[in-house]
This record gives sequence, C-alpha cells and structure tokens, in this order.
Amino acid sequence: MDGLWLGGRTAVVTGGAGAIGAAICADLVALGAGVVVADVDGAGAAEVAARLRESRREGAAGAVGTKVDLADPGSIQEFCDAVGPVDIVVHNAGVSIVEPFAGSDPAGWDLMWRVNLRAPMLLTRLLLPGMLARSWGRLVFISSDGARAGSGGEGAYAATKAGLFGLAKTLAREAARGNVTSNVVCPGPTDTPMLRRIDAEKPGLVDKIAKGIPLRRLGRPADVAGLVAYLCTERAAYVTGQTLSVSGGITMH
Ligand SMILES: NC(=O)c1ccc[n+]([C@@H]2O[C@H](COP(=O)([O-])OP(=O)(O)OC[C@H]3O[C@@H](n4cnc5c(N)ncnc54)[C@H](O)[C@@H]3O)[C@@H](O)[C@H]2O)c1
Repeated sequence: MDGLWLGGRTAVVTGGAGAIGAAICADLVALGAGVVVADVDGAGAAEVAARLRESRREGAAGAVGTKVDLADPGSIQEFCDAVGPVDIVVHNAGVSIVEPFAGSDPAGWDLMWRVNLRAPMLLTRLLLPGMLARSWGRLVFISSDGARAGSGGEGAYAATKAGLFGLAKTLAREAARGNVTSNVVCPGPTDTPMLRRIDAEKPGLVDKIAKGIPLRRLGRPADVAGLVAYLCTERAAYVTGQTLSVSGGITMH
C-alpha cells in the first residue's frame, strides 16, 4: 500500500519511554521515520531508542533518546532549540492523579495542567512554524476517553485532557493551509503501568472495567499506536480536526 512510508520525516514522541509512547515510537520507526524519544525519564528514553535502533529494518532511520521535562518551559525551549527540523509531533506524555474532585489537591491540578496541556501548547508554538514553512506536518494529541465521557476520580485530569480537543481543532483550522494536520486520539482503559497503578489502589476495578468493554478486553499500547502511526502518514492527509477513540467500543461517538 502506498503512502505509508515515513522515510525522511522526523518525529518527536513525548513520553516515549512510557508504555503507549514506546509502542508509538516502534510503529513510527517501523514506517521509516527518525524518532526522537523525548521523556523526563532520560534513561528510559535512551533504552527505548537503543532497542528500536537494533530492531529497525533496512532503510529506517531509527531513534534517539532525549531528556526533557515538559513541566518546565525552559526545558521545552532547550529541547526545541536542539532538536532540528521536526515534521511530526505526538504529544503523548501525560500524568494522572486519581482522587475524588471534592478533596483534590490544587498542586496536583497544576502538575497535570503543566504536563498534559501547557506542554503541548508550548511545544506546538515552537515547532509548528517550521512545519508551516516546509508545508508539511502532523500533530497528534493523546487525550483520553476519560475526557470525552467523564471518569470518576479524574476531574482535573479530564479537564486538562479535554483542553486538547479545542487546541487540536483550532490548530487544524489554522495550520491546514500549511498542509499540517492536527488530530486527537483518545485511548480507553489501556493495559499499562498507569492503569495498573490505579488497580493497585482500587483492586478489582480494572477487571470490572474490562468486562464492560464490548470487545471484552483492555486496550493494548499497540492498539493506540496503530491509529497514531496512520494519522502521521500521507494516507491520512485528508483527516484533520478529528477526535478518535481507541477503546474497544466502551465509548461510541
Ligand atoms: N493507560 C491508559 O489507560 C490511558 C488511558 C487514556 C489515556 N492515556 C494517556 O496516554 C498517554 C500515555 O500513557 P501511558 O499509559 O503510556 O503512561 P506512562 O506513565 O507509561 O507514560 C507516560 C510517560 O510520560 C512521561 N512523562 C511524565 N511527566 C513528564 C514530564 N514532565 N516531561 C516529560 N515526560 C513526562 C513519563 O516519564 C512516562 O514515560 C498519557 O497521556 C495518558 O494520559 C492512557
């Protein structure tokens, strides 16, 4: 099938050391992109990049790992100054603090605002002008079905993730003439350490969630990565301003 090869393109994947991020990096490397695995966990990012360099197929550019703290605007600026031309940004890094909203700690809101919403805004502000100048780009924002449908204990998290909907749609309109698309992908409950941490706090909750999913299982990181990778290709050139769930049908829009 034509239009899927990303050879010659450079992609930044934030939170690339994490479960879903690493799967996204793997698919983008498999499609030939040069991937910058960007994470506050610099050692984790380097590990993911080294693994992908070893397993890449012929002609693929591979990956490099870079440390960046997305909660810190200075670190974001330094990262963007050093990274060179970027064609694709997958805003995947995220933090989630689960607690009933009524008793929640505003310090936690602040961290989620900084990482989940402000960082995608700052990064896009710095990297979009280059995409527009080169007349090609892909922005993919990883939000959450918790933001689309609401999710107990995730009020502040959902608020930051819902902010991505408005940002991505506005960017889709503003950047269209520069051949830059902007879309949101919403994972449903996905089997990752993030979800396992929630399960440890509330035993049995994850099993209960899985039973309510029409496809009868939790999502896997690769389920999310497949859609993200497609959105980054030429085949998805006419898809912009969309919010798509990867949730086994637990939410339908
Ligand atoms: N796992 C799920 O069920 C689920 C469901 C819906 C949405 N999501 C979203 O998917 C994305 C990936 O989640 P995951 O399950 O792979 O989580 P994860 O915890 O495995 O990965 C998140 C990554 O983000 C990085 N990160 C956190 N703070 C950072 C910072 N300040 N600077 C740079 N990097 C930072 C972490 O180091 C980690 O590698 C997140 O945005 C999450 O909100 C996950």
